[in-house]
Amino acid sequence: MPAQLLDGKQISEQQIQAIRSRVEQRLAEGRRAPALAVVLIGDDPASAVYVRNKKLACERAGIRSVSFEYPASFSEAALIELVQQLNQDPEIDGILVQLPLPDHIDPELIIETINPHKDVDGFHPYNFGRLALKMPLLRPCTPFGAMTLLQHTGVDPAGLDAVVIGASNIVGRPMALELLMARATVTVCHSKTRQLADKVRSADIVVAGVGRPNFVQGDWIKPGAIVIDIGINRLPNGRLCGDVDFEAARQVAGWITPVPGGAGPMTISTLMHNTLEAHLALYP
Ligand code: GUN
Repeated sequence: MPAQLLDGKQISEQQIQAIRSRVEQRLAEGRRAPALAVVLIGDDPASAVYVRNKKLACERAGIRSVSFEYPASFSEAALIELVQQLNQDPEIDGILVQLPLPDHIDPELIIETINPHKDVDGFHPYNFGRLALKMPLLRPCTPFGAMTLLQHTGVDPAGLDAVVIGASNIVGRPMALELLMARATVTVCHSKTRQLADKVRSADIVVAGVGRPNFVQGDWIKPGAIVIDIGINRLPNGRLCGDVDFEAARQVAGWITPVPGGAGPMTISTLMHNTLEAHLALYP
């Protein structure tokens, strides 16, 4: 029997509608809407698409988005000043600086400048540390969204073997911390990992975030496993595909995310969730 699909599009839409209801309830009580500052530097086409989708999601969630778009020549000092202004602005609850930044801007420096209580990406070392200590505040959106998908399987990760493929700061590392917090036994694999296929074959939960099209083979998947594909890759024919060979893996897995329509929309609805949470923490 082929795997059940984890429909990120539908689950993210439910999440956005629930946020909208909460926002409307607060508006009716005379409160203001949550507000997200979206900062885009340069003209990376993929970043422009992500930022547009985030702003459209804000509209659907009832969140006010405020755009700050500057050319790639924008200086690091000017960006620091902008972030400091947004930190001070009582009308702004969340600050999102889209990555990657141009080469002359140090992303770590910018992330550390963001007030951790407005860091809706969950990238600030303070928020990362809170997650590592099992006392999360604002959690990185892609892994947090993947945990929401996992919850929808009804399977408790406690005691299960999870393999995370990829150790990036945005996906693999925080994903491992999320799964560990849910009491899974976590193995983090990366480009130096030996016998990767064997490690994946032992996993009840597989999360792939490496950015390599169809990298994870169907015969690496343990029968019945939950497969969450974070990858989004464009093939030479223009079509999108994930890091997992979907057609082969779905014959074996118990649950699997499609690409597109799996983890991607969850990242965006989780950003809306984080923006509401940041707003509620600042203005209970
Ligand atoms: N670039 C790729 N993914 C992300 C993300 O989740 N947040 C930000 N700010 N930039 C990104």
